[in-house]
Amino acid sequence: MRLDGKIVAISGATGGIGRELCEYFAKMGATLLLVDRNPERSLSLARELEAKHGISAEHITLDLEDIARVREVADELAEREIDYLVLNAGAYSIPRHKCSTGYDNVFQINFVSPYFLARKLLPTVRERGGRVVAVGSIAHRYSHIDRADVDFSTRKKASLVYGNAKRHLMFALYALDPTGEGIAIAHPGITQTNITAHYPKLVYAIIKYPMKVIFMRPRKACLPIICGLFEGCRENEWIGPRIFDVWGRPKKSILKGCPPDEAAEIAKRAEKIYKELDC
Ligand SMILES: NC(=O)c1ccc[n+]([C@@H]2O[C@H](COP(=O)([O-])OP(=O)(O)OC[C@H]3O[C@@H](n4cnc5c(N)ncnc54)[C@H](OP(=O)(O)O)[C@@H]3O)[C@@H](O)[C@H]2O)c1
Repeated sequence: MRLDGKIVAISGATGGIGRELCEYFAKMGATLLLVDRNPERSLSLARELEAKHGISAEHITLDLEDIARVREVADELAEREIDYLVLNAGAYSIPRHKCSTGYDNVFQINFVSPYFLARKLLPTVRERGGRVVAVGSIAHRYSHIDRADVDFSTRKKASLVYGNAKRHLMFALYALDPTGEGIAIAHPGITQTNITAHYPKLVYAIIKYPMKVIFMRPRKACLPIICGLFEGCRENEWIGPRIFDVWGRPKKSILKGCPPDEAAEIAKRAEKIYKELDC
């Protein structure tokens, strides 16, 4: 598996899984575009990867809550003729507010903005024989869509709000490419990163070390996402750890929890949101 001569753009590169993915991509010879909201950390990671692996890595600043910037970055990535877009950035239990789009920030970070980037870049990425790889989550199972509360802004439970956004992202992307050539949906199972540190301090202090032992480390958990660069997913396929979706080597399996009418509604809704924002 080599990526020499390929340009890989990855969001959330400075996160727990993102860093590990960058290490692998750099080892495979890819040119990297690190799309992050924190320029200092991202630039420092880019320099580290360049020095360690002799590749070229650049930083692009992007806060997924800022839709105007998402539009600019989509154009910039199209100009750079990227081969792969890895939609890795995500947020779970964060302070909630409405973004300028009118959508809840968790919905926007995990669905609206990544979908916008995928929708814009998929045609050129596919033409170049590359792929859009989105990081999904088993949390999508907890949330069936609600026509009266699209972004779950009235819900308090973080797992439901996050699950709803991931569900939208995953099923909207399948609809963008029914051939399965240009899209891959992958997930890491459960692995300890910032995103899993959302428990109250005392609870987290108690479960932190057992979690490290029980679940796979980010270095292993990110392997299904790497597989996504080399293998596309048709409708309802995704790639994740083979044992109970949390342990072991990557395996492609079939998702059964989203009825066709719900998936169609998600796709319709995604397209509507995209058209509203594409100005
Ligand atoms: N860890 C797990 O068990 C698990 C399970 C299922 C799925 N996932 C998914 O895996 C992906 C990576 O998560 P992780 O576990 O590596 O968590 P993480 O360490 O918290 O990394 C999340 C990344 O997303 C970035 N991000 C958050 N909000 C953003 C925003 N508004 N704009 C731009 N970037 C933003 C973060 O940037 P900052 O560094 O600046 O905060 C960070 O780089 C996510 O999509 C997550 O949903 C993780």
